[in-house]
Amino acid sequence: MRAGGPLAGTVRIGGAKNSVLKLLAATLLAPGEYVLRNVPAIADVDSMSDLLRTMGCTVERPEPGVLRVVRPETIVPEAPYELVERMRASIVVLGPLLAREGRARVSVPGGDDFGSRPIDMHLRGLELLGARFSNAHGYIEAEADKLEGTRVTLEYPSVGATENTLMAAVLAEGTTVIDNAAREPEIWDLASFLNRMGARVLGAGSSTITVAGVRPEHLSGVDHTVVPDRIEAATYLAAVAIAGGEIVVAGAKAEHMDMYVQKLGEMGVRISPDPEGLWAMSPRRLRSVDVATLPYPGVATDYKPLFVTMLAVADGVGIVTENIFKGRFRYVDELTRMGADIRTDDHHAIVRGRERLSGAPVRAPDIRAGAALVLAGLRADGETVVRDAHHIDRGYEDFAGRLRALGADVERVDDY
Ligand code: EPU
Repeated sequence: MRAGGPLAGTVRIGGAKNSVLKLLAATLLAPGEYVLRNVPAIADVDSMSDLLRTMGCTVERPEPGVLRVVRPETIVPEAPYELVERMRASIVVLGPLLAREGRARVSVPGGDDFGSRPIDMHLRGLELLGARFSNAHGYIEAEADKLEGTRVTLEYPSVGATENTLMAAVLAEGTTVIDNAAREPEIWDLASFLNRMGARVLGAGSSTITVAGVRPEHLSGVDHTVVPDRIEAATYLAAVAIAGGEIVVAGAKAEHMDMYVQKLGEMGVRISPDPEGLWAMSPRRLRSVDVATLPYPGVATDYKPLFVTMLAVADGVGIVTENIFKGRFRYVDELTRMGADIRTDDHHAIVRGRERLSGAPVRAPDIRAGAALVLAGLRADGETVVRDAHHIDRGYEDFAGRLRALGADVERVDDY
């Protein structure tokens, strides 16, 4: 892509990747037909759909944005290496499979580009409910004759561990209380999906979730619209902050991104609710701020590459502190290749803003950092080529096309 003029127009965001993947896993809890709406056409949804298919479910897209899943009575409760390796989030099938099938065989997820990604809290939560685990040939073999409700206090409000424990608790006997639960809007979306299926979940979105177990026959298929993707919305707000201009991010929900909107405000971006979503206008030059990532409702770790990129072209010095994934700074070297002035020290990045960056070939290390590198190209002289763009396809539907519709000079070429 090349730097161009200011952005203008409206971009419509889709449903949250990090919700839809878990909703698909939740369909394993009960046979029936499920319809999911506002589903983005992204590679991670394809991966989770493939995983459900290998187990015996039917997954089809009858029209754009809609996914229809038929979960049959009998499935094969197994997540093979090839699919878990493609997408770590596949681990969220463990809870629902154990709860409904009493057993599961799931490939152990490896680390990824932002470091080691343990699942000890997932396993501990399920163990407290009565599951037993063994590990053989790279697979977790899980069994549970019966799950029983109990108190599960998470060591840390892990999103995935909260989701796995929550889904298993739906069919456990008695009441489960999950303390120190993750509070992300996607957890709330999962709980409302489960409740519509017939589950009895209270308190999702707060740190204490209470689940009254129900019998399997009380659950059935449902029709559900996925919560908007706050990270996708944040990405387009960062685009206008970096490139300049005035846009509307249709479908964005301000209440799901309070801290982000507040920080952008401090940087000089004007953002206000609009009948369609959020309206945003960028100043001539952003002001630097300090940012630290924290579990929701703090600044999400997924926003961090966006902040680092915005700070790279802001006026002043900003310090970004990563508290969630300590190794999530790999893209900094790529931004440096584009002329950004960034120094990292352990889990901090010190970013000295420059007026402009300089276009260069760079490599996308993961979904969010990949998107941020594209945005850096919007304020870089000459041409920027982001390689390994397949990472971006995992989480963003038609990223280049949507940026182009806002006036950016961006084109998707085949990966090389
Ligand atoms: N952790 C453990 N043990 C566990 C689980 C987590 O030590 O058993 C640690 C992790 O290593 C990490 C921290 O806890 O340091 C947070 O991990 P969490 O479990 O909350 O994250 P996740 O469920 O693996 C989801 C999103 C990520 C997002 C994080 C944090 C999905 C599919 N992924 O991951 O999104 O960054 O929450 O909010 O929901 C993305 O969309 O690109 C993405 C990476």
